[in-house]
Amino acid sequence: MKYRVLGQSGLRVSVIGLGTWQLGGEWGKEFSQQEVTPMVQRAHEVGINFIDTAECYGDHTSERLLGQAIKELGLREDFLIATKFGHRFEGNFKRSEPRTGADVEQQLEASLRALQTDHVDLYQYHSVRDSEFFAEDVQAVLEKAKQAGKVRHIGNSIGGGAKTSVQIEASKQMQVETVQIVYNRLSRQAEDLFFPVCERLRLGVLARVPLASGFLSGKYKPGALFAENDVRHAMQSAGKDERLAEVETIARTEVPAGVSMANWALAWCLKSPAVQCVIPGCKNVAQVESNAAAADLPLVEQAHPWAAP
Ligand SMILES: NC(=O)c1ccc[n+]([C@@H]2O[C@H](COP(=O)([O-])OP(=O)(O)OC[C@H]3O[C@@H](n4cnc5c(N)ncnc54)[C@H](OP(=O)(O)O)[C@@H]3O)[C@@H](O)[C@H]2O)c1
Repeated sequence: MKYRVLGQSGLRVSVIGLGTWQLGGEWGKEFSQQEVTPMVQRAHEVGINFIDTAECYGDHTSERLLGQAIKELGLREDFLIATKFGHRFEGNFKRSEPRTGADVEQQLEASLRALQTDHVDLYQYHSVRDSEFFAEDVQAVLEKAKQAGKVRHIGNSIGGGAKTSVQIEASKQMQVETVQIVYNRLSRQAEDLFFPVCERLRLGVLARVPLASGFLSGKYKPGALFAENDVRHAMQSAGKDERLAEVETIARTEVPAGVSMANWALAWCLKSPAVQCVIPGCKNVAQVESNAAAADLPLVEQAHPWAAP
């Protein structure tokens, strides 16, 4: 594993993190504790120290499975746990948006209970609108939580549809130290829109959806169909086959022989000087293991501006 400093938060993160939306049950299957604990154990063994979860991956389901696994394994001090606020799970693919200061206070307590911990290392705004991001009552709750030691750092997971860098520009003023942004070989808007601001402000950058929801794993061909209980079912009409055809071209023209497409796609994100960590969503031990190996590819340079021993 390789490590980088997550911007001015100073957190030392593995370049490959663990994304865990999958554990909430919206990716075609539900997860049991017997499946999740070995994933967390393997993540630890291969040097992954950063886990991204959220309040609405199931009704705190992903947090609960992770919290129990980390407790069983006695690894709380070995992992940096990032979670989020601003949504409530109302059944698969349905969310409400409780976003007042009082809502956030309640959500944090629910997350801490589910995670069986007294603090989260990174507490992130979860795809909130610009008008909501600047809410002073939420800011006051976050400040209080930091002072109480319940939150170590504040981050902002920028909505996938964000068209401006307004929120990122205001990071310092809002005490935000990290940003989570959609970035992968098929979705490169962040390179022009967000990364220059992040680099100027020396923010930590977490690249999410690095495998383009699995499309960049190379295992799906144009015509692939996803089941109704898989969040990707809803992506079927939105140019899916064109994107999968593009993946085939990339596999032929850019991925070196002998390198797995998924590994290459993760390493590709990590070559950006703005990015410190990618958080591929994982469904089993084999995916955790395979994704960690991407850190060994030459694309993941030792000489990165945020490299850490
Ligand atoms: N608004 C937000 O804050 C937000 C939004 C989205 C995601 N996130 C975070 O970012 C994380 C990553 O995004 P994502 O999960 O949406 O998309 P992703 O990481 O691009 O893709 C995840 C999918 O890739 C496949 N995969 C993973 N590792 C693989 C491997 N080694 N080989 C082959 N296939 C592999 C799995 O799909 P199969 O089912 O095909 O096996 C998995 O479900 C999430 O888990 C979550 O923590 C945050």
